[in-house]
Order: sequence, then structure tokens, then C-alpha cells
Amino acid sequence: MLTTKPRGTNDILPGEVEKWQYIEKVIREVCQTYGYREIRTPIFEHTELFQRGVGETTDIVEKEMYTFKDRGDRSITLRPEGTAAVVRSYLENKLYAGTQPLKLYYIGPMFRYDRPQAGRYRQFHQFGVEVLGVHSPGIDAEVMAMAMEVYGRLGLKDLELHINSLGCPQCRPLLKERLQEFLQPHLEGFCQQCKGRYHRNPLRILDCKSEKCKQLSEGAPTTADCLCPSCAAFFDEVKRCLDLLGIDYVVDKNLVRGLDYYTHTAFEIMAKGIGAQSSVGGGGRYNGLVEACGGPEIPGIGYALGLERILLAMEQQGAEFPPAWRPDVFLVTACPEAEEEVYKLLADLRELGYSADKDYMGRSLKAQMKYAGKLNARRTVIIGENELKNGTITVKDMITGEQEEIKREKITVLLGGK
Ligand code: HAM
Repeated sequence: MLTTKPRGTNDILPGEVEKWQYIEKVIREVCQTYGYREIRTPIFEHTELFQRGVGETTDIVEKEMYTFKDRGDRSITLRPEGTAAVVRSYLENKLYAGTQPLKLYYIGPMFRYDRPQAGRYRQFHQFGVEVLGVHSPGIDAEVMAMAMEVYGRLGLKDLELHINSLGCPQCRPLLKERLQEFLQPHLEGFCQQCKGRYHRNPLRILDCKSEKCKQLSEGAPTTADCLCPSCAAFFDEVKRCLDLLGIDYVVDKNLVRGLDYYTHTAFEIMAKGIGAQSSVGGGGRYNGLVEACGGPEIPGIGYALGLERILLAMEQQGAEFPPAWRPDVFLVTACPEAEEEVYKLLADLRELGYSADKDYMGRSLKAQMKYAGKLNARRTVIIGENELKNGTITVKDMITGEQEEIKREKITVLLGGK
């Protein structure tokens, strides 16, 4: 146990972590392009926030939360997603009092007690955005455009943007009634959870992962069949704005999403060829969430993507990552007397902003050269007796293998300015 990580978690090791840094960098660039600012909320929140925010009948709240009592006997939950926490922070910090809409983003770990498999983990990472304070089809289209921009800049291909409208509280009673009518004859065949959902929230049944429930609910009435005129018009406008922005999409009437807070627009991005966990991101509008969390009636829309899945998709599609990091220079101590010079040069180079390193294991000259190769250093700088005598250094280009002896001061010319 001491040397085994908990199931469904991952170590992100050097070599791999650079890929994460790259993805995060691209994400931050896109956020800046679109005018989103970062928010950082706690990793854990009061359990009630997610129960109320995400919804009591969702898989997340019913089965997947990491919930525990702290030493003060408070029920605490490791955040399973970011939206409820952002809304909590928006209210607690009265961010609604400032200029609206507020465009926020976050990157960080989330926790769900899910059955681990490729692309599905118990600790995973999300990049998410939330726009609060505006109900306009244009912003819905913008959030989707931004999501697609992230994938595009990361070099992902073959993605499909699925969109649907989940309606509003006015359309829901009709939907509930028609769903119950359709599902009632098959009720006995559904899983225990879905039986409970039948009365409380039949829409949730359409999102059940059980094959049997999926089969039984095939052909059920969809939200699209029950939209009120105002929701239908809003959805048409969202599609028009997507067209204006040149974003391709597929209307998917079966898209319901796994969280209860959605109203109006819901969307998901699917990647082909990454296996069962093909959803590389999803989101939607949540006009009732701020109110459900105890705040005023303020609309919102957001989206989140799973970083692990993005990475998986990029690797499977052969997307390019920047070249692996390498030190600019490795300093080789060719005789014990050179050590002082090596330390001085090391300090100088680092001060100038170069990535420089040396040996601390008492390696032989040959072993130091080999070690420099393993570190993938761009150049080695060798200081030995001759160099000490001449006030020079010997620089070896580790790509071409060329070697030259130069005056010590010339090193920065050779390395290029920083
Ligand atoms: P979600 O669909 O539950 O939405 O999660 C968003 C994305 O997180 C998924 O598309 C997937 O890429 C990734 N993801 C979810 N669960 C796992 C897991 N167990 N392992 C790996 N990746 C996972 C939300 O969380 C909403 N908060 C999104 C949102 C923001 N809606 C409005 N604003």
C-alpha cells in the first residue's frame, strides 16, 4: 500500500508533465484571447453545495462523491466539478455587484468515485469556464466557439460538437409528464436508482449508464419535443450564432448531460477513436443555479473539458507537442582544480537565465559527458587544466558533435542572448 497510489489516480511524471504544461499554456492563451479571467476555489466545499447545485438525483451526488466528516463534524466533499463552487464564490464575494457578464475560467483537480478505465479516473483534471450574468444566445455560441478553439489550437481533429436544448422550468412539466407516460410500462425493468428517479426526475433516466435502462428508454420523448416557444426561439438563435461564427455542430436530441442544473443550451464535444470515454468536454446554460444556491436570479453558462482525455486524444491522433525540454548547457569539470571555475560559470549562466547544470556525483570526465547526453543538454562546456591555463572553455555542441575552445566571456555569444 505504501508504494501504491489509490485506484483511479495518476502520477504525472517528468516527461509527461511538460505535455500538461503545454496544454495548460494553450488554454490560458485562448482564455486571454476571449477575455476570461482565472478563478481559484477550494478543492473541498460543504457537501450541501453539490447536493443542491449538481442535483440529488444525479449519478455524481448519488454515487460518486468523496464525502467525509471533518474533525468539526461538518460534511465536506472533494469537488466533483467546478461550476457549483464558482457560483458559490460569485455569491460569497458579491461578484454580481461588478460589471457583468463575468467571464471566468479554472484549471484543477476534480474527484469522482467512478469506475476507473482509460479516460475515466477518480482524480482527474478539468479546465472549465463560467459566464455569469448574461442570457443571450450569442454568449452560448461564444462558449462553444472558445471550446472548439482550444481543441483546434491543440491540433485535435475529428471532433463533433453535439448541441441540444433542455428547455426551461416552463417546458419541464410537459416533458416530465410525457416521459413518465412513456417509461411507466417498462418501470419494473429499470435499475433501482432509475425507479427512484421516475418520480423525482425522469429526465435523469435518459442519462443512466446501465445498458438495460438505455435500451428501455430508447425512443423516449426528448426535450426537443417539449420546448416552449421562447426556448425554441432561443435555441434557433444559438444555432444561427454558431453559423455566424463558422462553428459546425450536430443537433443531438438525446443529449441530456449528467448534471441537474442545465436549462436551455446543452452541448458536448465528442472525439472519435479514443474509446468509450469519447466526451472530451461538455457544458451548457444553468439559469436557475445561482438562485438554487441562495442568490438572486442570475443566468449562467459554462463548459468544462477533461485534461486527461484531451491528452489521450492528442496522443492517439498523433498531435504535436513542443520539443522536450533540455538544459542549455552542462558544465563538465575535467580536473579537480577546475571546480571553482565551474561553480562560478554555473552561477553566472543561471543568473543570465540559461538552464545550466553540473555533476555532483564525482563522475569521471567520460561519465560526465555521458550524463550530459542523458540529460539531453544542448551543449557541454568543459573546463580542464588547459582551459584554466588559457582562461578559456571548451564548448561541445551535442547535436553536431563539434567542439571549439573559446574565451570564457564569449560563452553568452555562443549560446545566444537571453
Ligand atoms: P461533465 O460533463 O461532468 O461537466 O465533465 C466535463 C468533462 O470532464 C467531461 O467531458 C470529461 O472530459 C471530463 N470528465 C468528467 N468525469 C471524468 C472522469 N471521471 N475522469 C476523467 N475525465 C472526466 C461538468 O463537470 C460541468 N461542471 C461542466 C460545466 C461547466 N457546465 C457548465 N459549466
